[in-house]
Amino acid sequence: MPPLWIVVGCLQVLLKWTTCQEISTLTFPDSFLFGAATSAYQIEGAWNEDGKGESRWDYIVHNTNFILDGSTGDVACDSYHKYQDDIAALKELGVNYYRFSISWPRLLPNGFANEVNPAGIEYYNNLIDGLLAEGIEPWVTMYHWDIPNLIYYLGSWNNAEIVDYITELADLAFQHFGDRVKTWITINEPLTFCAHFPNATVTLYGQTVPVGITEYLCGHNVLRAHTKIYRLYQLKYKNSQGGRISLALNAEYGIPETDSEEDIAAAKRKMDFELGWFLNPLVYGDYPRTMIDYIRNYSALQGYPVTRLPIFTLTERVQIKGAYDFIAINHYTSAIISDNSSLVLDASYENDDGLDAKKDPSWEGSAASWLAVYPEGFRQLLVYIKENYNDPEIAVTEQGYADEPDTINDTRRINYYQTYLSEALKAIHEDGVKLTAYTAWSLLDNFEWNSGYSVRFGLYHVDFEDDNRTRTPKESAEFYKKVIATRCLVDSCD
Ligand SMILES: *[C@@H]1O[C@H](CO)[C@@H](O)[C@H](O)[C@H]1NC(C)=O
Ligand SMILES: *[C@@H]1O[C@H](CO)[C@@H](O)[C@H](O)[C@H]1NC(C)=O
Ligand SMILES: *[C@@H]1O[C@H](CO)[C@@H](O)[C@H](O)[C@H]1NC(C)=O
Ligand SMILES: *[C@@H]1O[C@H](CO)[C@@H](O)[C@H](O)[C@H]1NC(C)=O
Repeated sequence: MPPLWIVVGCLQVLLKWTTCQEISTLTFPDSFLFGAATSAYQIEGAWNEDGKGESRWDYIVHNTNFILDGSTGDVACDSYHKYQDDIAALKELGVNYYRFSISWPRLLPNGFANEVNPAGIEYYNNLIDGLLAEGIEPWVTMYHWDIPNLIYYLGSWNNAEIVDYITELADLAFQHFGDRVKTWITINEPLTFCAHFPNATVTLYGQTVPVGITEYLCGHNVLRAHTKIYRLYQLKYKNSQGGRISLALNAEYGIPETDSEEDIAAAKRKMDFELGWFLNPLVYGDYPRTMIDYIRNYSALQGYPVTRLPIFTLTERVQIKGAYDFIAINHYTSAIISDNSSLVLDASYENDDGLDAKKDPSWEGSAASWLAVYPEGFRQLLVYIKENYNDPEIAVTEQGYADEPDTINDTRRINYYQTYLSEALKAIHEDGVKLTAYTAWSLLDNFEWNSGYSVRFGLYHVDFEDDNRTRTPKESAEFYKKVIATRCLVDSCD
């Protein structure tokens, strides 16, 4: 049967963009899961309460000018005290699961397992039990960027010993929460913290760590850490706990600017440098060929005696290959890619890919400069993963839209979710992509890293002026709730 399309009006956005999208009238399968996500530092607050240690982000917000609006996550959504309100919001949405992260320094104040904070264990136990009591599955991320500051001072992700340190955290999490948590994400968006957030993560003691080296050391240690945690679970917990594990990877979809061979190759290279950097080792046991070749060649031209991209040992390759139970993808936006392989003298991840990326001016923008709306890229990314990585099961672990503070009637966010979810339906039904879950980012307006509270992603508005941090559903929450209940994006489905 040919797919049926209907055109659902046109959304006039400001005066600049008019988007007319064909919204699919197909439905999400009964087994398809819907969720919403947050992360610890962005919502918990209680930064120094009940024995919690200092994270790097606590240090950054108190000691640097990195946060654009000068704000902090000291209180944020106060979810440490108001997690019952979060559970109530999730229940109102009707989600199947809640993706949240555990704060490493809340469980291990110094970062190391010699001292466990019982209040931290209790907090996550209460949250997990509260969710399960409402029929909401906990999906738990172990590391969403809030590294204990003391471990940061040991070299952060540049120090190979972090593999052991974070595995101690994971062991503790499996031990205390694994009886009830069945979906685990080890590490969130290594691309972002290894390569895209240099000021927060690449400076140590106020010094810049060598760029062009640190990104790859960080990525290498992330892959080793993820693998060690995955293999630990298989050996020690899988039989009794029966859960599944992945690593959340963020990826844009790269569209060649012209149909020249160079631009087409550059767009493929973007996929390799962003997604393949981590996914290729997981699926095939090593970095993508293009990364190996480009970084080796640039390194040689720059006078380095060996390539700046670390090399896995044979044993590591064997262990990394297959260390996932599904693919977890965070996807927000796409980019137009052109080749720029001219000789680059400065070593950096940014230069090594030999390409330029930009947003198409015809795409609707958002309150975040990096996020422009291109729903088709979502379907193309899903198909790309299916075709290049052995047709895996895929869970979208983050997707959402950024707007201005206090937008309660958030029509642009609704338009974003409707058009992106429509592409997901086409990928499932027409392309046969094994997409099984979709996670809205975010449940709540929250502390958006260096943007502070100036950019909002929530389905729920949070009043940051009010001590109660009152949560109010936006119009998008009503929309998402209806999608979950009807499994359909329009008023009536086929
Ligand atoms: C990052 O650091 C560089 C070099 O110190 C500086 O020029 C730049 O303004 C910083 N960016 C942000 C966002 O703080
Ligand atoms: C790398 O350098 C080798 C040797 O000069 C060359 O044959 C190859 O085409 C180069 N590869 C890339 C991706 O530039
Ligand atoms: C939200 O805004 C749209 C477009 O301006 C309008 O049609 C709709 O009635 C508004 N909804 C509410 C609940 O105010
Ligand atoms: C905050 O919560 C308290 C207790 O639930 C309530 O008495 C008070 O009215 C609330 N304040 C606001 C501003 O909502």
